[in-house]
Amino acid sequence: MPVCASKGREGRNLKATGRHAAGRRTARARSRSKPQEFLTALFGSAKTLYRPVLSGKSLPKAIAPELESWTHCATIARMPQTRPYSHIRLRSVSGNIGAEVSGVDLRNVDDTTFEEIYRALLENEVLFFPESNLDDESQMALAHRFGQPSVFPLLKLMGATGPTFQVIEDGPESPNEADYWHTDVTWTQEPPKVALLRAGVVPESGGDTMWGSMTAAYDALSPVMQELLAGLEAVHDNQSFIEAVRRKMGDTEESRKILGDLRDAYPPVTQPLIRTHPETGRRAILWGGDFMRFLVGMSSEESEAILGFLQRHIEGPRFHCRWSWTSGDLAIWDERSTVHKVVNDHFPQRRSVHRCVVDGDRPFFDFETIASG
Ligand SMILES: [Fe+2]
Repeated sequence: MPVCASKGREGRNLKATGRHAAGRRTARARSRSKPQEFLTALFGSAKTLYRPVLSGKSLPKAIAPELESWTHCATIARMPQTRPYSHIRLRSVSGNIGAEVSGVDLRNVDDTTFEEIYRALLENEVLFFPESNLDDESQMALAHRFGQPSVFPLLKLMGATGPTFQVIEDGPESPNEADYWHTDVTWTQEPPKVALLRAGVVPESGGDTMWGSMTAAYDALSPVMQELLAGLEAVHDNQSFIEAVRRKMGDTEESRKILGDLRDAYPPVTQPLIRTHPETGRRAILWGGDFMRFLVGMSSEESEAILGFLQRHIEGPRFHCRWSWTSGDLAIWDERSTVHKVVNDHFPQRRSVHRCVVDGDRPFFDFETIASG
């Protein structure tokens, strides 16, 4: 049993702006007067424990605390349940992220049940509905409950005018291209809010999907690192996506035209490295993976050092959950606080998934709002 010095966050600057909802304004008023009570009310008794170390040993008492280095001891980062659920049942699938949902027929969801599903999504970041029995039409209808389903940028350039499905098919001729941690389409000004993914053809073995909680990853950073990253911005572009599409479509005149149009229509964008969740107020690392080029205003060496560190950091298994698909399973995840990747161990077996996403807002970082557990 490690000896951990429990260090609450009373010393941290707990504020909440009224930027998004009246409830948050109320939260700000409460947080100003009793920050720790505010934290407990929002996130229950979640705590982060740290212990000071120097070369693996406790520091002599004579050394001032500000000279100590900090190592993370334990994190309970999942947003605790704020109210009981009466219309759905939840089972956590890992310590920090993801819950399996049962007791609901997704083809017939009343408003009260949907409110619980939505709240469960904010609290767990990824929800899994085994053997949902949805088809494309009912999946899109469910997506509408979360907001406006998106027209995928590439398909928009190819003439699509309404919300689109992406059917992603892997096979001997089309290896999976999503085997790296990423958030979807961060090369657009307004990346998606929510994604819904349903398994079609499932390989006999392998082909799982993993998700990572970027709120848990942010919370696990030392306060000094959190402060260093606050307000940094990263440039994202679609070059790696274009290369992936070219591999699938082949280097033809048609593909050159479409991909050239895609590059012109979606120039590089600047995104906050740490984003404030517009609904929970929690902070999360906005990780675009191969879509990220560099950090604004830094030398390439500085940028690579920070992004390299974050890449290794978010790969920590304690931030992850993993789902082994059965045909018909549906996953819904919050694109504003998670990353995901395919475990590409099923090649050359066939695998197909049906994906639609819901329009999101422009990501932002709010210096004032701190609402992490
Ligand atoms: Fe993706």
